[in-house]
Amino acid sequence: MQQSDVITPKIQWYPGHIAKYERKLSELLKLVDVVVEVLDARLPVASVNHRLEVTIRNKPTLIILNKSDLADPAQNRRWQKALAGENRRVMLYDAKGGQAKAQLIQHVLALGEAAMQKLMAKGRKRRPVRVLVAGMPNVGKSTLINSIVGQKKTKTGHRAGVTRDTQWVRIHPEVELMDSPGVIPPQLDSDEAGALLATVSSIGDAAFDEEEVARFLIETIDRLYPGQLARYFKLTEGEAPTLENMALARHYKLSGDQPDLLRTAQALLTEFRHARPGRITLEHAQHTPKEPESGEAESRTRQAPEPTEPPAEI
Ligand code: G4P
Repeated sequence: MQQSDVITPKIQWYPGHIAKYERKLSELLKLVDVVVEVLDARLPVASVNHRLEVTIRNKPTLIILNKSDLADPAQNRRWQKALAGENRRVMLYDAKGGQAKAQLIQHVLALGEAAMQKLMAKGRKRRPVRVLVAGMPNVGKSTLINSIVGQKKTKTGHRAGVTRDTQWVRIHPEVELMDSPGVIPPQLDSDEAGALLATVSSIGDAAFDEEEVARFLIETIDRLYPGQLARYFKLTEGEAPTLENMALARHYKLSGDQPDLLRTAQALLTEFRHARPGRITLEHAQHTPKEPESGEAESRTRQAPEPTEPPAEI
């Protein structure tokens, strides 16, 4: 299937639905040696399902900070260090660019080696390392698979009956990739996590109020990157970056000269999703003293703990 044919169904995340996806995911995990967990580099905390983390990371895991081309480069580097750990490597990725396949395979081979050794210790033959790509909706799983597999063999979106239909694609003489991704349901137990996921469109546009999400996005960006939105919308000196002021600056008006807030909210969300106001990360990792500053605002929210172990070799 070509990417242009792709229709990604919007999933409404009811509790029953979440349970179904969780079950499917645990079935898939039984079939693999290594998990490639795709996160959105702009949301390295909210795009993790912390409840499922233990199950997923029972397996050696390669964390892909995907869409790194849209995220703040200084934050990308910090998160890459902060998230690494034992049996857990981290890579920055731009699945649309897709140039880092060799590096990805190298990590997978290293992470899968223990499973192969275990197999051989039981007297069985060495076989290719088996890998599953998993992640929340819209983080770029299918784009990543397509970029690795080439020839756009994989289907984008979510498939029913995944286990029965499982197919493996040999992406290296010693690595086999499951051709369809595992969907990790979003963890929506706080309003903030839901709102953050909505800003990058990970929970389906129908599920949220665009004006509310846009206001939340403005507040978050302005706290982390003061002045950036005001500059982007060419607001005048002293004008606060509100949805109303942005509408007026763009001349988005309804009849009676009222600001068109919905149009402004939609424009802001679309433009943010394409990093037009700049490369922005909405959850910041802590600054370590030796690192050069990015020149951007220092982190203030949802801070990551300092890494307790040396980062994996990248
Ligand atoms: P999923 O399987 O995890 O649900 O995600 P999928 O691959 O369908 O990707 C979701 C959207 O994210 C797609 O955009 C895709 O092109 C984009 N994307 C994936 N990886 C990257 C990346 O590393 N960088 C950037 N900038 N974008 C990425 P779309 O809106 O569906 O289409 P389009 O914008 O490509 O036309």
